[in-house]
Amino acid sequence: MTSLKTEVGDLVFDNPSILASGIMDETGMSMVRVLECGAGAVVSKSVGLASNPGHANPNFLEVTSGCINAMGLPNPGIDAYGDEMKIAVDKGNVIGSIYGASPKDFVILAEKMQSYGACAVELNLSCPHAKGYGIEVGTDPKMVKSIVEAVKAAVDIPVWAKLTPNTHILPEIGKAVEDGGGDAIVAINTLKAIAIAPEFARPILSNKVGGLSGAAIKPIGVRAVWDLHNAVSIPIIGVGGITNYRDALEYIMAGASAFQIGTAVMDHGPEVFNTVCKGINKFMKRYGYRSISDMVGVAHE
Ligand code: SIN
Repeated sequence: MTSLKTEVGDLVFDNPSILASGIMDETGMSMVRVLECGAGAVVSKSVGLASNPGHANPNFLEVTSGCINAMGLPNPGIDAYGDEMKIAVDKGNVIGSIYGASPKDFVILAEKMQSYGACAVELNLSCPHAKGYGIEVGTDPKMVKSIVEAVKAAVDIPVWAKLTPNTHILPEIGKAVEDGGGDAIVAINTLKAIAIAPEFARPILSNKVGGLSGAAIKPIGVRAVWDLHNAVSIPIIGVGGITNYRDALEYIMAGASAFQIGTAVMDHGPEVFNTVCKGINKFMKRYGYRSISDMVGVAHE
């Protein structure tokens, strides 16, 4: 018998596939749809203290093997987003993604997410295109530790930190999450990128710089999970360019206990969660693995 159940700290999910923040998670009903399509959990849109229109158009484009976005963290603010959370938490595991500029911001946001019924909070310490947020707070290990510590002291639900690959000190930042009492690390967010339209001799995105996601970044994500597995003992959730079951297995074998899918939902629809899980199940039967934990980090042995 094979089982797709996986544990991320104290949380147990029926399968290791999770919707990544930023795709199909603006509304409660879209998160419900993804849960109904077989995701073990979903992560909400990243939400801040106040409503934010995000960056002007153009803020998204497709490139070879991926997409570049500079959405700029558009969201209705934590109070307005509560209604969406409440719809989704009735139907499954919802992780509340939050962004802020200081430990105090993150504490207020995490308390609200807990009150809405989130099963965990994911601290967005990694958005590469929002002034004052994301990587601007998430690449300083001292700041990361103090944010994680403050949120841990304020809420009872698990605290996950989503980290950036746009740094050469990722293991050090991972260690700061662990030292701050963080329950899990999510790696990676998008990579800083620019696309230029030669006809206009200008960058295409209104913000100029965006974040690259999709198949192009998978080997970078797998390497990040590999490095983090060597640096920390808390669970890791892998994300970046997962399209099929083989991609997901790479992340698991590098050290991830669960994985998130984002960009592939745009190409394959929310059914991708079921397809990837079926593929993993078939692989496990064929190669004699009985549980996800049997495979976590095996590539290091
Ligand atoms: C966005 O919604 O602006 C993207 C979030 C991120 O890159 O973390």
